[in-house]
Amino acid sequence: KILILDFGSQVSQLIARRVREAHVYCELHSFDVSIDFIREFNPKAIILSGGPNSVYASDYQADPALFQLGVPVLGICYGMQWMAQMLGGKVEAGLVREFGFAEIRARGHGKLFNGIEDRTGPNGEGYLEVWMSHGDKVSQLPEGFGVIAETLSCPIAAMADEARGFYGVQFHPEVTHTLKGREMINRFVLDIAGCTPAWTMPNYIDQAVARIREQVGDEEVILGLSGGVDSSVAAALIHRAIGDQLTCVFVDNGLLRLNEGQQVMNIFNKHLGVKVIHVDATEQFLGHLTGVTDPEAKRKIIGREFVEVFQAEAQKLPKARWLAQGTIYPDVIESAGAKTKKAHTIKSHHNVGGLPETLNLQLLEPLRELFKDEVRELGVALGLPHEMVYRHPFPGPGLGVRVLGEVKREYCELLRRADAIFIDELRAFDWYDKTSQAFAVFLPVKSVGVMGDGRTYEYVVALRAVQTSDFMTAKWAELPYELLGKVSNRIINEVRGINRVVYDVSGKPPATIEWE
Ligand code: XMP
Repeated sequence: KILILDFGSQVSQLIARRVREAHVYCELHSFDVSIDFIREFNPKAIILSGGPNSVYASDYQADPALFQLGVPVLGICYGMQWMAQMLGGKVEAGLVREFGFAEIRARGHGKLFNGIEDRTGPNGEGYLEVWMSHGDKVSQLPEGFGVIAETLSCPIAAMADEARGFYGVQFHPEVTHTLKGREMINRFVLDIAGCTPAWTMPNYIDQAVARIREQVGDEEVILGLSGGVDSSVAAALIHRAIGDQLTCVFVDNGLLRLNEGQQVMNIFNKHLGVKVIHVDATEQFLGHLTGVTDPEAKRKIIGREFVEVFQAEAQKLPKARWLAQGTIYPDVIESAGAKTKKAHTIKSHHNVGGLPETLNLQLLEPLRELFKDEVRELGVALGLPHEMVYRHPFPGPGLGVRVLGEVKREYCELLRRADAIFIDELRAFDWYDKTSQAFAVFLPVKSVGVMGDGRTYEYVVALRAVQTSDFMTAKWAELPYELLGKVSNRIINEVRGINRVVYDVSGKPPATIEWE
C-alpha cells in the first residue's frame, strides 16, 4: 500500500484516486503524522502532495526521517520542493509564476518517464504535456539527484535519484490535464514501488465481509437507511456479511420523493431480503414544521426529529450493539482536514451522521476507505439496481428545503408529482446522466393563468438542473428547449394546482444549488 502525505493542495484527493485506479490501496494523511505512524503504516512507497505554501517560509514540514525508511518517494510540486530542501538542495521563488499547460522535455528518459511521452523530438528526447501550478522552484539539486525533465522557465522540472528511488516533479501528474499523468503514477506505484495491483472490487468485498464478521461477531447491528447511495451500499455490504444480524430503520419523514419509501422497501426487503423497519413519521415531522419558514430552523427540526425517531426505534432493539453508517472516504478526509482548513458555513448540512452517543452503540463504518465511484461500483457488484446507485444526490432535509417557506403536506404532494415528471423526462431525453443534480422547487406564490375557458390562480414550480464535479461550484444545465417544453406541458396538465413552470438559470456562486 501507498502512503500519501497531504501538504494541503486542492487536488491531493486526486492523487489517491489515481493510485486506487492503478488497483493499489492507498491512504491520504496529513503531512504532520509522526514517523512512528508512518513506520506502522508500512508503505511500499510514499507520495508527497503539492501545497499552497513556500518551503522556506512554512511550518508545513513532514518528518524528514521518512527518507530513511528505504522506500521510494515521489514528491509533487511542493512535495518535490520540500524533498529538495530536506536533502540538501535549494528552492527559490521563481521569476515567473507558472500556471497551466507546459510542455516538458524529458531528458535521458529516467525510470519515471521511460517510454512515456506525447511526442518524440528530433534527438529522440520525449516531450510531455503537463499541468504546472507553482511559484517557487528547485534551483539546486540535492546530492545524488539528476535532472530528468526541463522547460524553458523551469530547468529542473523533474528530478530523480534512481538509486534511492526518490523522484520529484514540479507539475501535477494527478490531474487529467497532464495527458500521461495516469501512466506516470502507474509507473511509480507499480514498477518503481513494486506494488501488486490487487485492489479490485471482488477482492475488496471478500476482505470487507471478513472484517465485518470479525468485528461484529454474533452481535446485532442497526443502520439508518435513507435510500441514498452510501447508506444503501453499506446496508447491502453488511447484509452480505452478517445477514439477519442487521436491522435497517427507514424513516419516512414525509419529505421524500414520489414512491421513494416503496422503492426502498422493494429493493431491500423484497429483493435482497434485508430486515427493514419502515417508520412512517410524516405526521410528526410535518407537525413540528407547521408555521416554520426559516430554512435553517427547518433543517434543525428535521435533523432533531430524525434523531428522535431513530432513537425510539433503536430502543426497541435492545440486542443491537453496533450502529452502522455509510461514512465514505471523502467524509473522513474532510473532517480530518476541517481542523486546518477554515470554511464558512453557508448552510448547515446534516446527513444521518450526528446520531446520539447516548445510544451507546459502537460505530461500524465499512465504507470509510472508499471513494464515491468505488462505493457505486461496490453497490452494483452487490446487486443494487444501477438506477439507485447512480441516482442524483438528495439532501437530508429532502423536500423540506425544496418547498420554500412553510412546509405543508399539500405543497409536498404537488412538488413530488412535478419533480417525478421532470426526472422522468430527463431520463427519456437522455439528460439525467448529463446533469449532476436536477429537481423541482415549489414556490408558494400564486399567479394567474388560463386553461380552457377558465381563469386559474395557482402555484409556481421552478426547475433546477446543474452540472458540477464537486457541488462547490456549479453551472446551470443548458437543457434543450424541447425537453423543458415537454416538462412544463406535462406538469401543468397533470398536476392540478400548478399553472406555471420556470427554469432557474443561476450559477453557483452566486446562487446555491438548492433554493434554501
Ligand atoms: P447547495 O444548495 O449548498 O448544495 O449549493 C450543495 C449540495 O449539498 C446538498 N445539500 C444538502 N445535503 N443536507 C444534505 O444532506 C442539507 O441540509 C443540504 N443542503 C444542501 C445539495 O442537494 C447539493 O447536492
